Amino acid sequence: MKKLRIGLIGYGFMGRAHSNAFRKAPNFFDLEFEPVLQAVCARDEAKVKAFAQRWGYASHETDWRKLIERDDIDLVDIACPNDLHKDIALAAAKAGKMILCEKPLARTGPEGLQMVKAIEKAGVPNMVWYNYRRVPAVTLAHQLIEEGRLGRIFHYRAKFLQDWTISADLPQGGTGLWRLDLKVAGSGVTGDLLAHCIDTALWLNGPIAKVNGMTETFIKERKHTLTGKVEKVGIDDACAFLARFQNGSLATFESTRYARGHKALYTFEINGEHASIAWDLHDLHRLQWFDHRDQGLVRGWRSIHVTDSDQPYMAKWWVPGLQIGYEHSFVHQFTDFLQGLSSGKPASPTFRDALATQFVCDAVLKSARTQKWEKVRA
Ligand SMILES: NC(=O)c1ccc[n+]([C@@H]2O[C@H](COP(=O)([O-])OP(=O)(O)OC[C@H]3O[C@@H](n4cnc5c(N)ncnc54)[C@H](O)[C@@H]3O)[C@@H](O)[C@H]2O)c1
Repeated sequence: MKKLRIGLIGYGFMGRAHSNAFRKAPNFFDLEFEPVLQAVCARDEAKVKAFAQRWGYASHETDWRKLIERDDIDLVDIACPNDLHKDIALAAAKAGKMILCEKPLARTGPEGLQMVKAIEKAGVPNMVWYNYRRVPAVTLAHQLIEEGRLGRIFHYRAKFLQDWTISADLPQGGTGLWRLDLKVAGSGVTGDLLAHCIDTALWLNGPIAKVNGMTETFIKERKHTLTGKVEKVGIDDACAFLARFQNGSLATFESTRYARGHKALYTFEINGEHASIAWDLHDLHRLQWFDHRDQGLVRGWRSIHVTDSDQPYMAKWWVPGLQIGYEHSFVHQFTDFLQGLSSGKPASPTFRDALATQFVCDAVLKSARTQKWEKVRA
């Protein structure tokens, strides 16, 4: 096995999810590469050292530039807030490193385009962690659509609901709350949550032609953790938009952090000429399937428990009937990246693929401002 020496930047939620994937992938999948946890980087020396020890990283850094300069790192993994993605990716591309980057690729389309140009010029392998594509039930949905089982698609419906920012006392900015700071996050629920829904939609149903959106910021001012002052809130707390896909289907997308009772309710439903599909992150190992071609007597919604060995990824896990969870989507995505390196067929979404999501987000936010339908940049 060829060694692939990884330098991780950021040890928060995603730093842990990725580290787990780096460790698990070679245990469960057949790979030509051996992931080596070479270095982890974050600003707090004591905390990053403790993280390195816990997860088995050989070394640590407190400045991401130093990590990129090191010649014992083959792959840079960007798992830190959105405002750092571009600078890190540009530097890593210049240094000839492979790059994995968390979603959203960037804060805006133009920023993302700069990143795409840099990595394509450098010719380095790259991928963005839109992990929901690798939940086996979602991968199965993709397979069923690719096989033409739904026929012509009429409708796509997605939502991603949370409820963690309802309190007006919650500050914005700083550790754990950077998502509420426009300068760092780039946008609110649009780039954070709808970006996931859009990525899945583009993968399952093709390009989106135009959108018509509305956004709202329910709490207009919040104390900023870093300045200590009460400041205007610039992010969208909620966003809903209509979309027309290039294939003629109609869509609705909705996201909010103000849906009391919902923590991470990501759902989508697709209605085709012959069949419909529905999926729900809270029940992620099931795919709901309705096929009108079934015999009338027994026709109805089926709840497919996606755990059988002929269903995506499942042959490598336990025995049929035993389900897997959220973290496995990252194991699958990293596995696909490594298998893509071996086969020469890059795993999706690449930076270029993820840029399409960025352009949809830009068009949605523009439409919310202009209150008009906006075309999505191709
Ligand atoms: N794929 C997904 O489902 C998913 C889920 C959550 C977050 N994300 C994305 O992952 C990224 C990180 O989000 P998170 O939830 O892990 O955030 P987090 O706040 O939990 O962690 C961020 C990490 O970045 C580090 N960091 C901040 N500034 C740094 C700097 N200058 N140098 C080095 N490290 C620095 C912090 O120390 C922290 O370890 C974001 O882009 C986010 O949108 C993706």
